Amino acid sequence: MNQIVEHGKTLLVVGPAAVSVISGKAEVLGFLVNDKHRVVIREGKQLPFFVKEKAVFDISLGENATVEEVDGNTIPDSWADAVEVLRGFHKRPTVAMVIGKADAGKTSFCTYLVNSLVSAKQRVAILDGDLGQSDIGPPCTVAYACVTKPLIELYELKAENAFFVGVTSPSEAVDKMIEGLALMKSEIMSKTVEFVVINTDGWVEGDDAAQYKAQLVEKLEPDIIFYIQQKNESAQLLETIDFKKIVVDSSSAVRQRSPEKRRLLREMSYAKYFAGAKVRSLLLSQLKLEEKEFWQIKQATERGLLVGLYGPNRKFLGIGIMQEIDPKRKTLKVLTSVSAVPSIVAFGKIRLNENFKEAHFSGSNAVADKIKG
Ligand SMILES: Nc1ncnc2c1ncn2[C@@H]1O[C@H](COP(=O)(O)OP(=O)(O)O)[C@@H](O)[C@H]1O
Ligand SMILES: [Mg+2]
Repeated sequence: MNQIVEHGKTLLVVGPAAVSVISGKAEVLGFLVNDKHRVVIREGKQLPFFVKEKAVFDISLGENATVEEVDGNTIPDSWADAVEVLRGFHKRPTVAMVIGKADAGKTSFCTYLVNSLVSAKQRVAILDGDLGQSDIGPPCTVAYACVTKPLIELYELKAENAFFVGVTSPSEAVDKMIEGLALMKSEIMSKTVEFVVINTDGWVEGDDAAQYKAQLVEKLEPDIIFYIQQKNESAQLLETIDFKKIVVDSSSAVRQRSPEKRRLLREMSYAKYFAGAKVRSLLLSQLKLEEKEFWQIKQATERGLLVGLYGPNRKFLGIGIMQEIDPKRKTLKVLTSVSAVPSIVAFGKIRLNENFKEAHFSGSNAVADKIKG
């Protein structure tokens, strides 16, 4: 179907859908969509097409997809101001950290920052610490990528390296989150980039969240924090973080997703990630096992446990799903699409069933004698 939209308006498209701009000019989060580009909007996602010059769109809608035309730009002016603030820093790289609750628009804001900076010929690294809805690495990881050209979604990026946290909620793995993000950041700092944008998870409410975010800030030493504020929800966190920060507005067009919906979106990511995966047998004698306490002796409980696989030098290879340990053959069987030979297997706390649905692991018996034997 075709739709004509006047200059100054925004077309909001909720996926699954595909959109092309046949004529005119439209921008998605700072990315100018040209007439050859067919933009795919995944299920559960919404993209704003801001019309800069009267445009004709060709739109295909999937099941439950919607299109809506709204007046003006759904990108708040304070987002453009944030770019100017960043560019005003003389230090290179300049490190920015983005904080806000779930669905505040962190991912969208990061995409906008990245697009604005790379369009001005700046090299940018994006470190994705939004654990519950990872954009760059697979679920349960934090990951980074370097960006040199504008993009529609951070999801398009290929992780240069990642760290397996093994849970979906940072409150269950505060130390690991800090360790992982610090490790990824130090790797980024050895590269030639002008800006580093660090996205964080949406855990911002309450004392524990405030303490955790304060620790993150201390460890990652950003030059500036952008706090995306919806209402006055987090004065406490802003007080706890005694640091240079700027409050930016959340878009009036944000769409809230329930925790249930977020889990469903992750489960779609697992399913996509594991499409074409094979069961591989790894020799225990050639593996270092980490976080073994999340792994139980009984075969019934070890099956389904999510694991992170690393190669030499702790290069992240991908995630896998534990199948079994074969004590006779001294092998560990894992379902994965990783084809390189891993040297480290890190156990997570999430368990997936055959349909990639999440269940929480609550094993207590922590010994892993079987692997030693
Ligand atoms: N400026 C904006 N214009 C239109 N939609 C937006 C904007 N910012 C966020 N959204 C929408 O709101 C939802 C939540 O935004 P997202 O960036 O994913 O938030 P977060 O990363 O904080 O969870 C998404 O569907 C996104 O498309
Ligand atoms: Mg996000």
